[in-house]
Order: sequence, then structure tokens, then C-alpha cells
Amino acid sequence: MATECTPVIRVAVASADFIGQAQQLADKLSLPMHSAGSDAYDYLLEYSDSGLALVPSADKGYGSIRCDFAGSEHSHRRRHGGGNGQAIAKAVGVSGKFAPQVLDLTAGLGGDGFVLASLGCTVAMLERNPIVHSLLADGLSRGGEESRGCESTGYDSRDPELDEIINRLSLLEGSAADYLNSLAEQLISSEAEVWRPDIVYVDPMFPLRKKSAKVKKQMQAFHAIVGADNDADQLLASALAVAQYRVVVKRPAGAGFLAQTKPSYSLEGKSTRYDIYALKKLPQ
Ligand SMILES: C[S@@+](CC[C@H](N)C(=O)[O-])C[C@H]1O[C@@H](n2cnc3c(N)ncnc32)[C@H](O)[C@@H]1O
Repeated sequence: MATECTPVIRVAVASADFIGQAQQLADKLSLPMHSAGSDAYDYLLEYSDSGLALVPSADKGYGSIRCDFAGSEHSHRRRHGGGNGQAIAKAVGVSGKFAPQVLDLTAGLGGDGFVLASLGCTVAMLERNPIVHSLLADGLSRGGEESRGCESTGYDSRDPELDEIINRLSLLEGSAADYLNSLAEQLISSEAEVWRPDIVYVDPMFPLRKKSAKVKKQMQAFHAIVGADNDADQLLASALAVAQYRVVVKRPAGAGFLAQTKPSYSLEGKSTRYDIYALKKLPQ
């Protein structure tokens, strides 16, 4: 069996329709293609009718992960999540009068970015892990597609409201530190006007806690691929240099402050805390 330290990952297809896409991804990520005769693997990155999924081998006991903005979890949160009353909305400062432009330095599968975009924010997301980036890019490319077009019936249903939300999301692949440094440099040296995010949002990975049995099966696969973001402390100072109004850091309840720096204030939830580093009063 393949080892846990250097997971063996291959690109696979559920049907021959996806071979072109799969080969492109395999080339981009320098991963081998999977075939019936291939050796054991830890994960498959598999294209099927439902998009791209990270599928752990059966012995792992983890669930598959995919980015599905039309799925029931996102739809439920969008419709019944509490709107601007949610802690994330208050942390970022969304109100009836202000829908900020957010730079999300740690996109992951776009969950928080999606919530903010569904509240009207424009969200530019950064993701450095190439596998996570591919899953998120695939979710964004399917947009508000609720079911794939079927050749025999031509049926293809879309949710226009979901399309609008997804149009407010953009994604870049790369390191947040590099992006922030380059933005800070442009702000100092460029004579032309340079875009500055209203809010910089940071949600680094934490090591799984001991109660990991409680962590959803999908999240176990996600943690196994990404690991802990041990360099997160380095982002705070650069984030504060480019944000116009606030830097917002999401932490597990009870965790220490990012870069051991006390925020202006925190919003505490049962399992999550938002630390707000306020720079300027929000527009009223
Ligand atoms: C906890 S997850 C974010 C989850 C996300 N907020 C959501 O709601 O889906 C952290 C993600 O940020 C990415 N990440 C961490 N540090 C980063 C950095 N310095 N630059 C770019 N991406 C980073 C990791 O690869 C991981 O996918």
C-alpha cells in the first residue's frame, strides 16, 4: 500500500468523455493517469458527470470531496443561514449599505468565499494547494449548473441566482504571501491607481484536534492533502498593510491569536472565533 507521507495520487475518469480534461489536469499537476492495471493509490482525482472529485482509496475510510455550490449544504446555508446576521457577515462588516470587496487569502473549497458572495460581496480568492485549487476551479466552472446537460433530452437546468453569486467570485492560484508582497509593492511604487481590498480574510488550516472522529469524513481527506498551514503567522502584517478597513482571521474556538497579535475585538461562536483587526471605520 502507498504511504501516508507521500500520498500516491492519480487522475482518473468515470467515462471516456472526460479523458481530454483529465489528461490536461494530469499534465498540469504532473500526476500519472490511472488505469485498471495501475498499482495501489491513496487518492484519485476523478472526473465524472458530477465534476472533479478527490476520491480516497477504500482503506482510508474517508469520504470523497468535491466543490459543489449547487449542493444541498451550500443551498441550505444560502437560503436559511441567517443573512447579514451571521457571525462571518458581522466580522467582515457586510450590511444593507456596504458589501465589501474581500480578498480571501486561504480559499480552500470556497465555502466562506461563497457565503460572502451570497451576501453581495465581491470575493477574490487565493489558493496555493494545486489539488484544492483544481477542485475549487472545477466547482466555479460548473457555476449554477444544477444538473449536467444530457445529450438525449438536452435537459440542463440552471439557477440564475447561483450564477450571479458565482460571478462575484474569482480565483487565483498561488501563495498569499507572494500576492500580498506584490500588491504592497505596487501600492508604494505605482503611479496608477492600484486596487486595494476593503477586507482581507484569512482562515488557515489548523492541525486536526484529538476529537477527529467528529470531523466530517470529507474534511479528513482535505486535511490529509493540505496538512497544517504553519506559516500563517507571516500573513498578518502584510494583510494589514494592504486592507482598507479590516483584516478578519477565522480561528477554531480556544486557539491562540494569529502571530500572537491581539485583535481589536473578537466574535466568539461555539466552535469558531473571528478575530477582527480594524483599520478604519466601515462606510455607513
Ligand atoms: C482552512 S482552509 C480554508 C477553508 C475556507 N475558508 C472554506 O471556507 O472553504 C485553508 C486553505 O488555505 C490554503 N492556504 C493556506 N495558506 C495559504 C497561503 N499562504 N497562500 C495560499 N493559500 C493558502 C490551504 O491550502 C487551504 O486550502
